[in-house]
Amino acid sequence: MIEDSLSAAAITGGLATRFIGQEVTCYPSLPSTNDVAKRRAIKGAKEGTVIVAEEQTAGRGRIKRRWLSPRGSIALSIILYPPLACLPSLIMVASLAVAGSIEQVTGLKAQLKWPNDVLVNGKKVCGILVESDVRGNKVDYAVIGIGINVNLEVSEFPEIAPMATSLSQELGREVSRRELVQSLLAEAEKLYLALAAGDLVFKQWRDRLVTLGKEVRVSSGEATYKGIAESVAADGSLLLRQPDGSLLKIVAGDVTLRR
Ligand code: BTN
Repeated sequence: MIEDSLSAAAITGGLATRFIGQEVTCYPSLPSTNDVAKRRAIKGAKEGTVIVAEEQTAGRGRIKRRWLSPRGSIALSIILYPPLACLPSLIMVASLAVAGSIEQVTGLKAQLKWPNDVLVNGKKVCGILVESDVRGNKVDYAVIGIGINVNLEVSEFPEIAPMATSLSQELGREVSRRELVQSLLAEAEKLYLALAAGDLVFKQWRDRLVTLGKEVRVSSGEATYKGIAESVAADGSLLLRQPDGSLLKIVAGDVTLRR
């Protein structure tokens, strides 16, 4: 087992950022880091404050799913106060930051799957849940919740085993979570600042999506659609070319690659 402390001091020590991760609170166990981050944001926490938990007991995924965060994984939430126009791009910032940090720290190749999964060798290693509160045309706060399967044996969790993997499993050795968190926070800040400067984070995200050009099935609410995932729009929606030739814009859903 490698030395792998996720204390606030270990994360902030030598962290190459201006604001993301300069304030960190680590908990041994929490129901959900996103819930604590939201409460802290409402009370006016500094932009870039990060909440980390060694384990979550009620981790939340998209579409009211459960997210498993046992010890050995990373569960963290970043508090931001972006302009409204940047809100849809936070998922792009987060997925690119996770993929970049996995590649830097482990050398593994990471892929992005629409809308918010990061895969290694075709299996999910990370899920991202962005939650926000908007009043009028102002974002009160946004919280980017990130869960990464780092040092764990996915086969011990039968409900996720078929479609999930972990970094240690793919690499054959354990990974320093401290290094990964530091790299992730630095990447997130770089991309978030690029977004504010009007740089094309969207293009980088689109170009990394493994989903595009593939035959897919998309479940969105009660409906299921089939077609070719042709592209994505700047707001993050998927553009699906249906068998009748029409182009359908899907804002939220789950994609299964058909071949
Ligand atoms: C998904 O793939 O459905 C998204 C999963 C998001 C999980 C993270 S772990 C940290 C943060 N706290 C939560 O309760 N959820 C997010």
